[in-house]
Amino acid sequence: MCGIFAYLNYLTPKSRQEVLDLLVTGLKRLEYRGYDSTGVAIDSPDNKNIVMVKRTGKVKVLEDAIQEHFSGVEYSEPVLTHIGIAHTRWATHGVPCERNSHPQRSDETNGFVVVHNGIITNYNDVKTFLSKRGYEFESDTDTEVFAKLVHHLWKTHPTYSFRELVEQAIQQLEGAFAVAVKSKYFPGECVASRRSSPLLVGIKTKTRLATDHIPILYGKVIPRSDSTSEFMPMEEKEVEYFFASDASAVIEHTNRVIYLEDDDVAAVRDGTLSIHRLKKSLDDPHAREITTLKMEIQQIMKGNYDYFMQKEIFEQPESVVNTMRGRVRFDGNSIVLGGIKDYIPEIKRCRRLMLIGCGTSYHSAVATRQLLEELTELPVIVELASDFLDRNTPIFRDDVCFFISQSGETADTLMALRYCKQRGALIVGITNTVGSSICRESHCGVHINAGPEIGVASTKAYTSQFISLVMFALVMSEDRLSLQQRRLEIMQALSKLADQIRAVLKLDSKVKELARDLYQHKSLLIMGRGYNFATCLEGALKVKELTYMHSEGIMAGELKHGPLALVDDSMPVLMIVLRDPVYVKCMNALQQVTSRKGCPIIICEEGDEETKAFSSRHLEIPRTVDCLQGILTVIPMQLLSYHIAVLRGCDVDCPRNLAKSVTVE
Ligand code: F6R
Repeated sequence: MCGIFAYLNYLTPKSRQEVLDLLVTGLKRLEYRGYDSTGVAIDSPDNKNIVMVKRTGKVKVLEDAIQEHFSGVEYSEPVLTHIGIAHTRWATHGVPCERNSHPQRSDETNGFVVVHNGIITNYNDVKTFLSKRGYEFESDTDTEVFAKLVHHLWKTHPTYSFRELVEQAIQQLEGAFAVAVKSKYFPGECVASRRSSPLLVGIKTKTRLATDHIPILYGKVIPRSDSTSEFMPMEEKEVEYFFASDASAVIEHTNRVIYLEDDDVAAVRDGTLSIHRLKKSLDDPHAREITTLKMEIQQIMKGNYDYFMQKEIFEQPESVVNTMRGRVRFDGNSIVLGGIKDYIPEIKRCRRLMLIGCGTSYHSAVATRQLLEELTELPVIVELASDFLDRNTPIFRDDVCFFISQSGETADTLMALRYCKQRGALIVGITNTVGSSICRESHCGVHINAGPEIGVASTKAYTSQFISLVMFALVMSEDRLSLQQRRLEIMQALSKLADQIRAVLKLDSKVKELARDLYQHKSLLIMGRGYNFATCLEGALKVKELTYMHSEGIMAGELKHGPLALVDDSMPVLMIVLRDPVYVKCMNALQQVTSRKGCPIIICEEGDEETKAFSSRHLEIPRTVDCLQGILTVIPMQLLSYHIAVLRGCDVDCPRNLAKSVTVE
């Protein structure tokens, strides 16, 4: 999805060249979110105007365009105070082109320029209103109405401060958005706001900040001349601010951030940050806390790997341990999930568990449903967030709804969360992103602690979501005597998981050979059942999104009800056949495939000669307890899709048309 990065230096000399470098690097950190065009806005050398450079395509194209645009211009002179804004756009309204890229502007003189994430749903009404007042629109975007509306308010309310103008504008707008605004009429100032789309402010000072919070100011509009009092001066004078859609863009500059809440308006004037809200309700806090990010800069770097996705696949022996760290006590056979422990009695009394997510996150729910049913003895319903909303699904006060999301910002999942919350259900968030909307809007939850996932295709988040849900099932069955043997077996298997993942990762070169056999084909069918059905769905999703090849995850039990017609000697098939309760049924499916001249690649258990005999191509994985097999079987799928994508020359980390964080419905 789109990415915002804005940088403000106050009494901190920086040349425009340095500012541009910072903006471009910020955009590079946001590239993984998915985008199709880019843009920046900075002050002109005489400080009287705003200069914009925008391009279709990658940040590199913008970087080259900036060099060309400013060649021969004196940009090395340090400027004491300055604000630059930048954006990566993922097209929703209007094709990717320079005209539709952000920043969008208020008028030909670039009076106000705006970068925006999300969708303004009532933009047509606002456009009609502004057109009647003489505004002419030059782009197809919804964002342009925002820039022009601020301009209109500025003309009609000459006493308003910059913050008040933005505040008035957002009140007229519906939909989801995060915005950062710059204006030539308010030099050195930046105003930013959000509604249902993430935005944070990073703060960098020479010494540690004397405060760990920024007070929130409530109230109505104050004329510009009187509004000085709203700014609470911080003790430090020299300061830099970073406004960004996510923490990966600011971590190399500062680890002190404020996550803005919906309808917060953050404004910087004279180097001081203020956070303002128009109305105060009873439970509103008095201040926004400054959080210290735990993320390390190395975590967002590729290191020795060619791609982030590759790095993230190979991080799984460590990321699964991080998910369990401080929670699972292997010696005492106990598990504590601090984020939900107080809610366990309530959860145990519930009517049913609902697991809701999209894409890979949804697959982690499919993967663990059977174990949850077994260990909680509750009905478990698994839902795709988008379909769940389409159906107006009945929700009851005694339902417990899990919202699974790596980013914690997926619009469909967030909407489904709000829908369930309104109906009184208990909301449990399973997310990887601390401070994300799903995190903040849940009653309780589990951070999966997989570390930043940059590759658009989700890998390590899946295995960590899987483990988080397994841990939850184990917590729920702690006092069930009849389930103790089963729990013990799973706990022991969890303790061996990291080493077993390492063993599976050693299959990498073998998987690469298989990828060579497959990469020129048009299709790949992936079959399995029981605990491995989710691996088939997830494997097929990875192949589709990364390689643009057709792929389908097929429940082996459904084979004879249709998909078998696809099988012949030329159709690539991959089958997962492990020694678990559905082994005999999987073997039947395997025989049905081979007797139609299918030559499947088989994923089987180490040393299973009988199963291996059915095909010359197989991958052997270590034996583990049935309900954790899916963690070991999904890794060859991740590697296979990765290698096919590389062989087909696809952009592994940023597949076409996709975004890391899908903040639009
Ligand atoms: C696939 C993938 C997507 C996401 C989906 C939900 O590799 O990454 O299918 O899983 O968009 O995203 P989150 O988990 O952030 O809610």
